[in-house]
Amino acid sequence: TDLSLIRNFSIVAHIDHGKSTLADRLIQSTGTVADRDMKAQMLDSMDIERERGITIKANTVRIAYPAKDGQTYVLNLIDTPGHVDFAYEVSRSMRAVEGSLLVVDATQGVEAQTLANVYQAIDAGHEIVPVLNKIDLPAAEPDRVKAQIEDVIGIDAADAIAISAKTGLGIPDVLEAIVTRLPAPKGDRDAPLKAMLVDSWYDAYLGVVVMIRVMDGVIRKGDQIKMMQTGASHRIDKLSVLTPAMVDIPELGPGEIGVFTGSIKQVRDTRVGDTITHEKRACTTALPGFKPAQPVVFCGLFPVDANDFEPLRDAIEKLALNDASFSSEMETSAALGFGFRCGFLGLLHLEVIRDRLEREYDLDLITTAPSVVFRLHMRDGEVKELHNPADMPDLSLVDHIEEPRIKATIMVPDDYLGDVLKLCQDRRGIQLDLTYAGARAMVVYDLPLAEVVFDFYDRLKSVTKGYASFDYQISEYREDFLVKMSILVNDEPVDALSIMVHRDRAEARGRVMVEKLKELIPRHMFKIPIQAAIGARVIARETLSAMRKDVTAKCYGGDATRKKKLLEKQKAGKKKMRQFGKVEIPQTAFIQALKMD
Ligand code: GTP
Repeated sequence: TDLSLIRNFSIVAHIDHGKSTLADRLIQSTGTVADRDMKAQMLDSMDIERERGITIKANTVRIAYPAKDGQTYVLNLIDTPGHVDFAYEVSRSMRAVEGSLLVVDATQGVEAQTLANVYQAIDAGHEIVPVLNKIDLPAAEPDRVKAQIEDVIGIDAADAIAISAKTGLGIPDVLEAIVTRLPAPKGDRDAPLKAMLVDSWYDAYLGVVVMIRVMDGVIRKGDQIKMMQTGASHRIDKLSVLTPAMVDIPELGPGEIGVFTGSIKQVRDTRVGDTITHEKRACTTALPGFKPAQPVVFCGLFPVDANDFEPLRDAIEKLALNDASFSSEMETSAALGFGFRCGFLGLLHLEVIRDRLEREYDLDLITTAPSVVFRLHMRDGEVKELHNPADMPDLSLVDHIEEPRIKATIMVPDDYLGDVLKLCQDRRGIQLDLTYAGARAMVVYDLPLAEVVFDFYDRLKSVTKGYASFDYQISEYREDFLVKMSILVNDEPVDALSIMVHRDRAEARGRVMVEKLKELIPRHMFKIPIQAAIGARVIARETLSAMRKDVTAKCYGGDATRKKKLLEKQKAGKKKMRQFGKVEIPQTAFIQALKMD
């Protein structure tokens, strides 16, 4: 295709502002898909995504658009994930296109995630077309939102396009703007092949499918190609474009976006951001800025039923095939038995994987508290990564500990600002900035990631009644006074409950944890001390008193069915318990004990 007739773009939007609806409209209005084939929200392909209303896997679609100038253009839309955990994928896919539609719900305005993603688009050098969606709604305030886009983001919104993705109003203007306002891609057809690996996924029939953007040169079916970072070599078995159905194509030239397959076994073998070139006549320099996505949050996953260990291992292996950013290794816990220590890009990523294990693979799991990766600077000069608080070495061997810090941006209506500031302050936050745009405040905080991974989103949502939006980036590792706190139940340490905590907060956290555990652990026939300790020093203590009578005693022995029911209930309850020494601890306690409210 002639480069001047190609436009590549992505859509930047906050969750629920209408990205999927607009994408569906663009596809529909150009007749790429017959209406009857149009499944609702087609771009969100996975069930879980749909249920949660989030887009996780980047998708793309190629649209043929006959413009007003009489030419037919090829429009390539890349669908980027909308959530913070996938910021790295967003930044890569942004580099595969030249422009963005910035979609803002005209009844809501700019949110934190919009902001983070639009800055990525600006960084990638994009031309940006602001689009105000949902103007069919009476509550729409296009002028206010336009002013807000200019104030908060700092881009010209005078030519923002007012649309309703729902009714179709304004869609032709969006298509024309893509052609007239976004730049055509550049590239040299005669140069050695240089293509960017934008995304990859596992397909049950095709194996690994790799999405690429060609920068220079031409890629054809049958070519022998090389991935510059991994060094792997493959033959192109199938070369296609997504319309969104896969349509085979003989070649892709500069500026084009498509997918290929080629006997690649695992998604792990493909790295987003890698440079693809020909084995013979390779390009000399790779695309800049490649770095593999690193897991930042770790937690333990254990089967409730020890017999589920093998099925859990199989399920984790299957999921890992399709997700290079998810890591796992076997873990043994005295409290929870055999399981896996797993690494994730963030909390949402963790939740999605856990949900899939439970739902798609029908596994009952105990998830231990998420922990970040701490850096231990040992006295002998070695630097170790700590993925699990239970593995914390003897303190006398450690010189100092560093933890990851984040730069968090929170947007919130004025009324809730006080609560948000308090929450951030409580979590060891340092305020960096506070600005206003109308009745909304934007605050920027430097926070320890460790304080955010647990229940920060939940707390933020509840203190702001759901009106705040949140986004973050990892900023740096920094030293702080961190210690390992252990929990002892009946004088024995429960490894799955150990956490790393700031020394100044240890007493408070310890007190909350032992109080909670006292509520969560059922009474036994004997007295149970519950303690929090740093090293050998106990910093908080509660005692669970002994149970007086047998539970069935109050049935007076008379009502047999009632007694039986009670015993059955107890038995069912047992399955959800973990035997620990002489004490039974309910599974839910491992997470509940760590909540800070
Ligand atoms: P994620 O996929 O979760 O990122 O959301 P999204 O940005 O793709 O939003 P989506 O397209 O799923 O739209 C969110 C909700 O807004 C849906 O219920 C849509 O039906 C509705 N919606 C989208 N566009 C419009 C519009 O123009 N007018 C009205 N009234 N509703 C709209």
